Amino acid sequence: MRLDKFLCAATQLTRRDAHRCIKNGLVAVDGQVVQDPGLQIKGEQVTLDDEVIRLPEPVYLMLHKPAGYVCANTDGLHPTVLDLLPRDLHPTEPLQIVGRLDLDTTGLLLLTTDGQWNHRVTAPNSRCDKVYWVELAEPITQESVSELEQGVLLRSEEKPTLPCQIEILTPNQVRIRLREGRYHQVKRMFAAVGNHVAQLRRESIGSLTLDPSLQPGEFRHLTQDEVRSL
Ligand code: URA
Repeated sequence: MRLDKFLCAATQLTRRDAHRCIKNGLVAVDGQVVQDPGLQIKGEQVTLDDEVIRLPEPVYLMLHKPAGYVCANTDGLHPTVLDLLPRDLHPTEPLQIVGRLDLDTTGLLLLTTDGQWNHRVTAPNSRCDKVYWVELAEPITQESVSELEQGVLLRSEEKPTLPCQIEILTPNQVRIRLREGRYHQVKRMFAAVGNHVAQLRRESIGSLTLDPSLQPGEFRHLTQDEVRSL
């Protein structure tokens, strides 16, 4: 991150004031006065007027997503999940949605200002399984379960889905544990075996399960242990 950007984020100075401080020799990086606002900062100690300054802590949230909210920053038609959250959770960084859910899908949604963490959780090779509770339009058959567990070819894709696990809860309800997160994956998988998802709720991501005390639309901050666990 550039020194001027770091200074703004750490102190909430305007860009102009940050430049002035740098040009006036008030800013030091690892003890050396620096007058180049474009210097890249990568973990060095930065002082302003001999006081150490730090970036604000990133924010990590768990939201119980209700149906009818879009996972997007803005939408012309529907409210977005960001509308459910206070706007001032972080002074400088915007919240990012960690792995999107469809408009009608409910359940566990993570949000963060930490882009690296977001990437770690959502990367195709991440070890964060996602678990969904699914209500189906048609009763599930044992053949469909076997097919889905081994991997099915989704429409207009070349590679079959990775092996997954399915637990039958009732004739029309299952729990599915997935390794990957393709576009509309759960709905497309059940469509591939001739069924239809009537309701979908994400229960967990990796070791993180939706907090049962959160009502639809409510959120809470993750603990440090929860953040580290993913
Ligand atoms: N799979 C889907 O089909 N929809 C979601 O919202 C999440 C996973």
